[in-house]
Parts: sequence; C-alpha cells; structure tokens
Amino acid sequence: MSTSNKFHVRNATLAGDDAQFIIAAFDSTLPYLASIGAGGMWGEQPFSQKDGFEEDTVDSVRKSEQDENPPKVMIVEIEILNRVEGQERPQDANMPTRVGAAVVLDSLPSYLTAREELKNEINKEKKFLYLEVIISDFRTDPLHRGAGAALIEAVKDYGRVNKYDTLYVDCWAGNGGRLNK
Ligand SMILES: CC(C)(COP(=O)(O)OP(=O)(O)OC[C@H]1O[C@@H](n2cnc3c(N)ncnc32)[C@H](O)[C@@H]1OP(=O)(O)O)[C@@H](O)C(=O)NCCC(=O)NCCS
Repeated sequence: MSTSNKFHVRNATLAGDDAQFIIAAFDSTLPYLASIGAGGMWGEQPFSQKDGFEEDTVDSVRKSEQDENPPKVMIVEIEILNRVEGQERPQDANMPTRVGAAVVLDSLPSYLTAREELKNEINKEKKFLYLEVIISDFRTDPLHRGAGAALIEAVKDYGRVNKYDTLYVDCWAGNGGRLNK
C-alpha cells in the first residue's frame, strides 16, 4: 500500500490475526501512556477486557476489507533483517513484524458533530477523512518508533488517491496538549 523508509503500510485483513494484533497493541499503549503522565487518556482497563471491543475491532477490519470506502484499517510493518539484541521477536528473521495500526473513517463521531464551534467547519461539504485511531505496538520497542508518522503518511496517500479534500484529526487535550505536538 505505502512504503516510507523502513516501514510498510498495508490494509488489515481477517485472514491473519490483525484484529487480535490491534487489540494487543492498544493494551500495550497503557503502561506507556501512564509513564508519560497521559494515563487519563484511555484509563487503566485493558482494551482486551472491554465489553464489545474485540467484536468492534473485528467488525472494522471486516468492513475495511470488504468495502472500498472507509472505515479503512491499516497496519504498519517493519521488515527485520537481523535479530535485534534483547528482543524476543522476531522468531523468524525477514518476516514483517507489525508495529502499529490506524483506523480512518469518512464521518465524524457525534461528540464532534455536536459541538457548536465546529458546525461551520463541518458544514463545508468537503469530502473528508477522519483519523479515528493511531497506535504503536509498544511491545516492539524500539522498532515501533516512527510508525505513527508512517501511518499518517499512508493515510494522506489514501486521501490523495481517493480524492478526499481534508483529513481531520483530534487529540486528547490533557497532559498539557502534548499529543497535539
Ligand atoms: C501516537 C503514536 C502512534 C506516535 O507514534 P510515532 O510516530 O512512532 O512517535 P513516538 O511514539 O516516537 O512519539 C512521538 C512523541 O509523541 C509523544 N506521545 C505519543 N503519544 C502521546 C500521548 N498520547 N500523549 C502525549 N504525548 C504522546 C511521545 O512521548 C513522543 O514524544 P518525544 O518525541 O518527546 O519523546 C504512538 O506514540 C502511540 O501509540 N501513542 C499512544 C497511543 C496514542 O496516544 N495514540 C493517539 C491517539 S488515538
């Protein structure tokens, strides 16, 4: 789908275990977020234990795979050419290792459309994408570093190819707005 530096971004598929990977990657962000003072963003409960989260993730991957239109679920991989000292993975050199994921929609969630100050922007009749989620798999540290940037480039490429006008993102405003930066 898209290759930037060492990263390769592809569409998620149900044929492998991409949905399970995404859930585990979500879980892996929680200790990291707590360590940078952003534990309030997603709380402490592992995503794998949240009611309906697995079903919703599988459903998004299915829709992404079956339909040309969003939701699009993307997986970013890195090809490991040599075993990295101290890393348990990969078991198999040269096998792509998944290091992150993104979910892109073509609609906005209701908590945004309900906001008065956004209505002018939303009513502009643009063909837009909305980056719902972007996560790295922190179990792969340090391999995942830069994965988020590669995913954003892939999302922009998808938008250009499919003639979208605008890409919206939104960020948790806590922790001094650090995520925005
Ligand atoms: C956001 C993310 C995908 C970016 O991945 P990346 O491009 O590989 O970049 P990095 O992980 O190296 O992070 C870049 C910087 O953003 C910071 N950052 C990442 N997530 C953050 C968050 N939720 N809040 C505040 N800062 C955050 C990192 O600490 C790092 O700061 P530094 O450069 O001062 O060390 C990844 O950091 C991640 O999964 N974060 C946790 C989940 C998350 O916040 N997702 C976004 C909301 S859906």
